[in-house]
Amino acid sequence: MKQTHYVAREPDAHGFIDYPEQEHRVWNTLITRQMKVIEGRACQEYLDGIEQLKLPHERIPQLGEINKVLGATTGWQVARVPALIPFQTFFELLASKRFPVATFIRTPQELDYLQEPDIFHEIFGHCPLLTNPFFAEFTHTYGKLGLAASKEQRVFLARLYWMTIEFGLMDTAQGRKIYGGGILSSPKETVYSLSGEPEYQAFDPIEAMRTPYRIDILQPVYFVLPNLKRLFDLAHEDIAGMVQQAMQLGLHAPKFPPKAAA
Ligand SMILES: [Fe+2]
Repeated sequence: MKQTHYVAREPDAHGFIDYPEQEHRVWNTLITRQMKVIEGRACQEYLDGIEQLKLPHERIPQLGEINKVLGATTGWQVARVPALIPFQTFFELLASKRFPVATFIRTPQELDYLQEPDIFHEIFGHCPLLTNPFFAEFTHTYGKLGLAASKEQRVFLARLYWMTIEFGLMDTAQGRKIYGGGILSSPKETVYSLSGEPEYQAFDPIEAMRTPYRIDILQPVYFVLPNLKRLFDLAHEDIAGMVQQAMQLGLHAPKFPPKAAA
């Protein structure tokens, strides 16, 4: 596991997390800015989720508030975790329909980019689509597959996650839209991902698994779904078999410079 200087906040005996005022202000800055940026760019299913969650703007939401909505729509929950968790814990949580949320928020100095997924990324980026049955089903299936996978298979599964749940795009009657939470929680990438500057590939799960990525740069290539139901259908296909095929075919050459040289 990597190191982090962030520490997740602990709840009191009633499950309430008392964030300092400065952290509520960071949330307010992030959500106010990002609600504007996603306009016309986020897919409708995500916006429907935003509508249902009714996220507060002036304060960091409590996990219990999110759980009420997720529980009533898809049966998902959010689970409080430390700033970074092992892969094993991550898969165990997803396999039991619990989405990990680290209860810390980025510092004002890291407003635009941080490597650790904070509560803004997890709640604003991922929770809206967890109200969608197609997306929820895929995420659940993904967790179960990850739990059963070997260490090497998990690396290929991680790329599938990256190219869908984190950085996925989707074609709609209203044009190309974003559904990936890694994009939707980043103002820069929200604009860039639809700018025409990066490369776009029609979604193919095996190709996604074979495509290397770096977490600290704007993505050079995005995979585009025909619709969100494609993820639901994929959840009922032989993903484990696709992992085997991807492993046999091997990785594509990266479309980005190595980290040391960057
Ligand atoms: Fe994420």
